Amino acid sequence: MADLGLIVLAAGKGTRMKSNLPKVMHQVAGRSLLGHVLATAATLEPARLVVVAGPDMPEVADESRKYFTQARTVTQAERHGTAHAVSMAAPHFADFTGKVLVLYGDVPLISSATLRDLTAAVTGEQPLAVLGFRATDPTGYGRLIVARDGTFSGIREELDATPEERAVNFCNSGVMAVDSELLWKLLPQIGSNNAKGEFYLTDLPGLVAGQGAKLAFRECPETEVLGVNNRIQLAAIEAAFQHRLRHQAMLDGATLVAPETVFLSVDTKLGQDVIVEPHVVFAPGVTVADRAWIRSFCYIELSTIGEAAIVGPFARLRPGVALESDVRIGNFVEIKQSVIEQGAKVNHLAYVGDARVGAAANVGAGAITCNYNGVEKSLTEIGARAFIGTNASLVAPVRVGEGAYVAAGSVVTKDVDPDALYIERGESKILTNWVKRYFAGLRARKAAGASPRSK
Ligand code: UD1
Ligand code: MG
Repeated sequence: MADLGLIVLAAGKGTRMKSNLPKVMHQVAGRSLLGHVLATAATLEPARLVVVAGPDMPEVADESRKYFTQARTVTQAERHGTAHAVSMAAPHFADFTGKVLVLYGDVPLISSATLRDLTAAVTGEQPLAVLGFRATDPTGYGRLIVARDGTFSGIREELDATPEERAVNFCNSGVMAVDSELLWKLLPQIGSNNAKGEFYLTDLPGLVAGQGAKLAFRECPETEVLGVNNRIQLAAIEAAFQHRLRHQAMLDGATLVAPETVFLSVDTKLGQDVIVEPHVVFAPGVTVADRAWIRSFCYIELSTIGEAAIVGPFARLRPGVALESDVRIGNFVEIKQSVIEQGAKVNHLAYVGDARVGAAANVGAGAITCNYNGVEKSLTEIGARAFIGTNASLVAPVRVGEGAYVAAGSVVTKDVDPDALYIERGESKILTNWVKRYFAGLRARKAAGASPRSK
């Protein structure tokens, strides 16, 4: 929307989070609170987006640009209230006309549809629109003052409200859309003569009404405007996100056997007929193709899983893993930064890091790529159809050719030609009746009176 500007308030210290991190940088569903707000905001394609950060929040500018490349960040050095925070963004709107939408950086569940609807409510006759919601517990919120005939005349903060006003449960979400000209004209008129001594943005609707203009409001579900002040609320928002993401995944055709035990990230992509067994975590950046089967107790991060692949139970895929179709990854297997080609198997207790495992190759139980020498990481290449015996150590950089075999227990330090056998093993011996002779010797020594510790 070419005539839309956004201001995201994120200067709050978040004291109740008891954290070194700015509140808006805390994560839910694998993304920061601010990231969620900006990702939603970006869908409106605003012409301008300014984030108001607090002092000592160097992370905020970078985080903002991740979701909206032209995002600008301003610092509100001292917090004097929401109107004061908005005024920090004013210099960036000097040459702008249109609508300005104000959002909070700590209210991450807001939907794009709600924001569009609120923005559309701003017209020539109604130059300001506020997003309200029915609060289960209105304590602490500002109240929308709506007369019996539906006329909305302003917002009253709880501390400044009369008992009758406090009895109202129609509350201010904080999200507001307003004609930019009017915003910048009236903002300087807001005073701080209130219970908190702050400059309240919520005084703006009253001022607009005072100019003889009509005010608009829209209502959204309370769940969309839940904010985060402490870690209990952070967990509640996480739960709400998970609920949403699980539902969407199931509606899109994935089976979650026990959905409440599967944790998704906002960017998790599950294909059709994917089956996810109980207790699986999808950290950010995971794509799972159709018909793949993720068995219980897997932790998967920044990886792609091919069609009909089977992963787990108890597997860990670290960043940079690409499993092609029909691959099998079994229990207690860890894979990092590797491509496992079609139909290859790594079924038990193995570590594969910085490797390429060729199609239909088999990596045996306990096999390990020794990819790190304490300083640098090196590559292991395993050819198609190669067979890596149990407990083999592949000391990278090293190559095992197509169809080659590595004998169990070998430490592979040289490249192996295609179809060759690599075996590195001490000669084996069998000493017949050794145990009997050994104990006979011990008993004889004891009978001769030698103590076990005698010299
Ligand atoms: C505000 C609203 C209240 C509404 C409630 C919804 C005002 C005066 N009140 O109250 O009507 O019901 O939100 O949650 O606006 N912020 C800054 N700089 C400041 C002050 C705040 O950036 O100087 C940011 C905060 O980081 C936060 C948002 O603005 O994201 C709201 O501030 P907060 O202090 O939480 O306002 P409330 O008292 O909750
Ligand atoms: Mg608040």
